[in-house]
Amino acid sequence: MARILITSALPYINGVKHLGNLAGSMLPADVYARFQRAMGHDVLYICATDEHGTPAELAAAAADMDVRAYCDEQHEIQKRAGDGFALSYDYFGRTSNEPNIVLTQHFAHVLEEKGLIEERLEHQVFSIDDDRFLPDRYVEGTCPHCDFERARGDQCDNCGRLLEPTDLKEPYSKISGSKNLEVRETKHLHLLQTKVEPQIRAWVDAATEWPSLAKSIAYKWLDEGLRDRSITRDLKWGVPVTRDGQPREGFENKVFYVWFDAPIGYIGATVEWAEANGGAGSRDWESWWRTDKGAGDVTYVQFMGKDNVAFHTVSFPATILGSEEPWKTVDKLKAFNWLTWYGGKFSTSEQRGVFMDQALDLLPGDYWRWYLTANAPEGADSAFTWEHFQSLINSDLANVLGNFVNRITRYTASKFDGRVPAAGEPGEAEAWIADELGQRLPAIVAHMEAMEFRKAAAEVRAVWAAGNEYLTRAEPWVKYKSDVDAAAVGVRTGLNLVALFGILAQPFIPEAAGRILDAMGVPQDRRSWQFGDIAGLLDALPHGHAITPPPVLFAKIEDDQVAEWTQRFGGAEPDA
Ligand code: MF3
Ligand code: ZN
Repeated sequence: MARILITSALPYINGVKHLGNLAGSMLPADVYARFQRAMGHDVLYICATDEHGTPAELAAAAADMDVRAYCDEQHEIQKRAGDGFALSYDYFGRTSNEPNIVLTQHFAHVLEEKGLIEERLEHQVFSIDDDRFLPDRYVEGTCPHCDFERARGDQCDNCGRLLEPTDLKEPYSKISGSKNLEVRETKHLHLLQTKVEPQIRAWVDAATEWPSLAKSIAYKWLDEGLRDRSITRDLKWGVPVTRDGQPREGFENKVFYVWFDAPIGYIGATVEWAEANGGAGSRDWESWWRTDKGAGDVTYVQFMGKDNVAFHTVSFPATILGSEEPWKTVDKLKAFNWLTWYGGKFSTSEQRGVFMDQALDLLPGDYWRWYLTANAPEGADSAFTWEHFQSLINSDLANVLGNFVNRITRYTASKFDGRVPAAGEPGEAEAWIADELGQRLPAIVAHMEAMEFRKAAAEVRAVWAAGNEYLTRAEPWVKYKSDVDAAAVGVRTGLNLVALFGILAQPFIPEAAGRILDAMGVPQDRRSWQFGDIAGLLDALPHGHAITPPPVLFAKIEDDQVAEWTQRFGGAEPDA
């Protein structure tokens, strides 16, 4: 039994995430966690809300709330949305909780001891009308690289480059809109990434199991050359800057930069999990994170959108490797491209796109999970459209899977007393489906191991389709008229296929999978992905065992629903 630590990029606290965020981090991490659990491994899936920094302050101000109260509320909302999509976190923590604060201050302390942190005078944008420094997103202006006019102080949303607020041309205050700005000197802590660069590069070179998207982004950053980075900000909301446990002189009105403390939050949330579970034995967080405390045998897998890759392959490693402490680092880093909204951007302000809570008001989580996995922005960006969503759900879930389950379970109820029939010997049709499964099941497992979720979903769909083809070949309803025993083989095989389809469906559509397996009376300990020999698989349910047809699993999405949702959430951009 392997130990597998899984994290998905910590969703930012400023509002419920849209489907694109879900598709590129939390959902694939969950699919993978469920898969590895089904394989019998010891999985720890950790996530948290990323709560510090300017966006949280700005969102709280916009909601006219105290920032802590705002974060309390939003954390609960995001947690509920996660539950609605059956995200099976072992723990969903918060970067503003004590463990992360302690760890963040610890890392800063150790890095300073190693000579990797320096106080430097920085030139910062100061707003005279607002009487304060304007860090990060408090200042906007024109991007020096691409001339995009609404670039934020920390990053340009158009060309994706990271920025410093002083890089912006024609800057203005996001608080007041004032252009009455000047550059003033202020002290900040700088992390000397240039000194750690050789270690980071060697570590990236040694990372043989990262999919290519992550690896290429890491090298792009390393090849451009790292810069030393300021890791503190002139803000109130964040991890206080300390020295030897006391407030650091001259930093009383400053906190650590959110991107410094956020990834440390993976560890912090694991500490929260251990505390919530008593912290004993394997519940010990250090056995997952410290290679000197047993984490040497852990495989650590991270999931994130491509905009997060630099922070996880360069910035966070600078913290971890720079500490020279034996922390566990990522073994496999799975990055995603963008899910687009009809080829354009999801946009909150322009009411384009669907957010997690809204999606759940329309349909249960499984519908979205299937679509977003089968259509994952994996090798390239992929587009959400209502029409595509409708056709994929109707064909894969309602027709291929739903009808199969329905047809065979209802037939069993009406003709075989709702029991798995014992009679008859397997023939040609059974040999055909056994051969299909013999090819496809190993392929599914291999795609899942490789975190190729689109391919895995396509192969699962192919297995469901093969089940329908099998019934066409076996024709139990036709055979029943002349040879009940021959029909019984078809029904028995069909029922075992239903159980198998439920088992296969678990990582993707866990709720429907649970209903299928419950209806088939498959006990919890028989739901793993230990497939064994195929003949056994097709005759696994005990003969005479009672089953109940489940209620309709998936309702078809109708055209008038698509019309209504397009109206409500927008379709293509007007002039796209
Ligand atoms: N909150 C960030 C985002 O939404 C992701 C943070 S990942 C972490 O892009 F590891 F740094 F927390
Ligand atoms: Zn730009």
